[in-house]
Amino acid sequence: MPDAPAATVKLAERVERIGVSATLAVLQEAERLKAQGVDVVDFGPGEPDFPTPENAKLAAIRAIQENFTKYTPTAGIPELRQAICDWHARELGTRYEPAECMATVGGKHGVFNAVSALVGRGDAVLIPVPYWVSFPEIVNYAGGQVIPVETPEGNGFRLRAAALERAWTDAVKLVIVNSPNNPSGAVVDREEFARILDLCRRRGALLLSDECYSHFVYDGAPFSIANLPDSKPYVIVAGSLSKTFSMTGWRLGYTLAPMPLVQAMLRLQSHSTSNPTSIAQKAGLAALRGPMDSVRTMLAEYARRRARVITGLNAIPGLRCAEPQGAFYAYPNVGAWMQARGVKTATEVARRLLEEVKVAVVPGEAFGTGEHFRLSYATSMERIEEGLRRLHRFFSA
Ligand SMILES: Cc1ncc(COP(=O)(O)O)c(C=O)c1O
Repeated sequence: MPDAPAATVKLAERVERIGVSATLAVLQEAERLKAQGVDVVDFGPGEPDFPTPENAKLAAIRAIQENFTKYTPTAGIPELRQAICDWHARELGTRYEPAECMATVGGKHGVFNAVSALVGRGDAVLIPVPYWVSFPEIVNYAGGQVIPVETPEGNGFRLRAAALERAWTDAVKLVIVNSPNNPSGAVVDREEFARILDLCRRRGALLLSDECYSHFVYDGAPFSIANLPDSKPYVIVAGSLSKTFSMTGWRLGYTLAPMPLVQAMLRLQSHSTSNPTSIAQKAGLAALRGPMDSVRTMLAEYARRRARVITGLNAIPGLRCAEPQGAFYAYPNVGAWMQARGVKTATEVARRLLEEVKVAVVPGEAFGTGEHFRLSYATSMERIEEGLRRLHRFFSA
C-alpha cells in the first residue's frame, strides 16, 4: 500500500511563540537512562519527596466512596473557597472573602489565568531573573512583551524595587514576583515588598505574587504580599497546595485577586478546564483545615539538606553557591569552570554531567541565566551525598 501523505499541521502563531523547554530535554534523557536501570542521581524534580498527608488522602478516598465525582462550581466548592480564605488568613494574616478566591488546577493554572485575563499585545510584564520557566512562556503565549529584570547574584538574587523601576516602561501592566524563588531560593523581605507594592501603585500596574513556596522559608515566618496594608487592589496571589502539602499530582491551586478579575478568570476557566477535580478539592479541603505538622517536618528536613548541599557545593572547585533563603533548590554558579574549559552553555554542562557522572540537574538557560544549574534537594540525604561525590569528581577532573 502506498504511504498516506503526511498531514501538514499548521500551528497557531501563539503556540509557536512558546519555546521547547531546555529543562525537559535533559530531564527526559535522565528518565530514559533511569528506565534502562542506570543509577542516575536525580537533582531535577521540583517536587517534595514526601507523601501527601494522610488526612488529605483519606478525604479523597471518602469522596470517591460517597460518589463526590461530578462537576462542581467552576471556582471550586464553596467550602473549599472558604477554607482557602481561612487558611490564608490564619497562616499569612490576610483578609479575603470567597468571592475574591477561586480554586485552580494547580498554581500554574492560576498564573496562566491571571496573565491571560490581563496581558495582550502591547502590554509588557516585568519578570525578575532568574525566573520560573513558565512565567515568560505564559506571557509570550498571551502576546505580551517580557522585560527581564536583573537581580544581583552577590546579594543572593534578591529582588529590589529599584531594579524594577529602572526596567519600567509605559507598557508595563504587570509585575511577577516569586518569593521564595524558583530556582534561586531568594526571598523578598517585607520592606522590599512594600517598596515594590508602592511602585506598582504609583505606576498603575498589578503585582502577581507567586507564593507557591510560601511555607518553605528558613529564617522567619511565611509571608504574603497581601498582608501589607491596602495592598489587595493591586495584588494577585497565585498559590498552590502542590508544594505546601506535597500534592503536586493532585493539581490544586488557588488565586486570590480583586473581584472583577476573579470574575474574568472564572469566565476563562469555565471555558477551559472548568472546576479542579472534585476529589482533589475534598483532599485539599482536609489539608487546609488540618494540622500543619507535615509542612514543619518537611521544612526541618529541607533545612538539614540545604546546609549539607550548600557546604558541599562550595567545596567543589569551580562552583560558587549563594545560600538559598527558601524553597528547596540550590543554584550554583559554574561560570569560572565554564570559562576555564571553554564550555559555552549551562545546557552543555548539564548534558555532560548526565553523560559522564550520571547526575541530572536543570541548566540555567531554563531560568534565564547561562552560567548556573539548578539542583533540587527534594531527595534523600543519601542521594545528596552520592550526588556531591559525583559532582566533585566531575568538576575536579
Ligand atoms: C514558582 C512556581 N510556581 C508555580 C509552580 C506550579 O505549581 P503547581 O504544581 O501548583 O501548578 C511551580 C512548580 O514548580 C513553581 O516552581
